[in-house]
Amino acid sequence: MDPTHPVVDEYLLAHHTPADDVLGELAAATREAAGDAAHMQVSADEGALLTMLTRLTNARFAVEVGVFTGYSTLCVARGLAAGGRLLACDVSEEWAAIGRPYWERAGVADRIDLRIAPALETLRALAPEPAVDIAFIDADKENYPFYYEELVTRLRPGGLVVLDNVFLGGRVLDPAYREERHVTMRRLNDLIAADERVDSVMLPVRDGVTVARRR
Ligand SMILES: C[S@@+](CC[C@H](N)C(=O)[O-])C[C@H]1O[C@@H](n2cnc3c(N)ncnc32)[C@H](O)[C@@H]1O
Repeated sequence: MDPTHPVVDEYLLAHHTPADDVLGELAAATREAAGDAAHMQVSADEGALLTMLTRLTNARFAVEVGVFTGYSTLCVARGLAAGGRLLACDVSEEWAAIGRPYWERAGVADRIDLRIAPALETLRALAPEPAVDIAFIDADKENYPFYYEELVTRLRPGGLVVLDNVFLGGRVLDPAYREERHVTMRRLNDLIAADERVDSVMLPVRDGVTVARRR
């Protein structure tokens, strides 16, 4: 399922703050190294959205779950306020190593604390205080509800949890799809819409992006 008409899609991709050379070259390096897996990377318009949301929250502490080769990591790190830090979680050192030289070129490597471990372990080890300004979830879908719960409780008032792939290619809309990831995402989308701790909106950006803001 394509949530937007291809013509609109092309127009959207041509009308956001363009990705600079560092992001463009990271995307090219990812295509070369990862082949088909490069589709996991966020698109340039979603990257621009992440930088904007990070700036809008004046974020000093951000968390990312799902780094891959670090495109979204770079987008969030760039939006941080002075002195801000990004805790970036993934299980693959190999993919993240591709991104590091681009983080360095962009001058944000020293803001990024990369943790190679199952993200749930990293999140559960965080202090329980509400200190997170923005969190971006883009990893294994079956664990999304656990990531959401660990993060929403640690959001400061006004902080955001941003979740990618909430449409799962349109499969969340079709009850015929019953794999664990489909059922889990469907339930989580319902839960967030009814969650009284947050105000939320689901955006038809790429594969669906939910933005939940802590009340
Ligand atoms: C869709 S990709 C992330 C793409 C990234 N946001 C970007 O823009 O390039 C998903 C990532 O989640 C990671 N991942 C999968 N299971 C994980 C887990 N249990 N803990 C942490 N990371 C995990 C994978 O290694 C992969 O790099």
